[in-house]
Amino acid sequence: MLHKLHRLSACLIGSFIVVHLFNHLLAIGGIDTHIAFMESFRRLYRQPVVEVLLLISVIFQIGSGIYFIKARWGQRRNVFERLQAVSGGYLAFFLLNHVGSVLFGRAVFDLDTNFFFAAAGIHVSPFQYFFIPYYFFAVVAIFAHLACAFYWLTREQLDLTVRTRGGYAIIILGAFLSLLIVLAFSGVFYPVDIPAEYKATYGGV
Ligand code: HEM
Repeated sequence: MLHKLHRLSACLIGSFIVVHLFNHLLAIGGIDTHIAFMESFRRLYRQPVVEVLLLISVIFQIGSGIYFIKARWGQRRNVFERLQAVSGGYLAFFLLNHVGSVLFGRAVFDLDTNFFFAAAGIHVSPFQYFFIPYYFFAVVAIFAHLACAFYWLTREQLDLTVRTRGGYAIIILGAFLSLLIVLAFSGVFYPVDIPAEYKATYGGV
């Protein structure tokens, strides 16, 4: 039952994440493109019913994920079984921080939590040493988690070599896309000038 709910809530969060990550990839084309897309996507996920459902799913996913890690502690044998726990653990840590800081930024600092909000941490030293790996591994962890699901769910249809290679291919694709996103937010493709109110949240000027 808990497994079923975990998968159901993963589908809901997953459909948000597919569009959310596509949104971040659009940053390669420029900040305006990123912000314009986010503003139209917000019309859907900022609907109170949708947002409350999404946030409940996030909380449930973190709780049930931690429970699964503890329940199967020491029983995981192969790379994908272990990777499922490691990527799930990282996603729990990331989601708690990420969603918490977005809600905090909105409620307490009264900020528009857009491109600049996410990029600010990368542009105020020394916070880039935290935020670059923090975002990079979040996107990799999503793809690693997906790779584990692929490895597990195709166990009756595909042979072990195909499942293993398919799993690694998903992770490599994720690392590549993640690198593109982080490079865009870091200002590698064009200069990124963070407005003062966003830098101020890190004590920057
Ligand atoms: C490079 C990686 C990422 C960046 C730069 C990023 C940035 C952002 C930003 C700016 C927001 C605020 C959106 C708004 O104000 O409407 C947000 C919200 C959110 N992000 Fe991410 N995100 C990243 C990766 C992820 C990942 C991997 C996940 C899931 C594991 C995730 C889950 C969420 C959720 C659930 C919200 C809250 C939506 C809401 O209710 O407003 N994000 N993110």
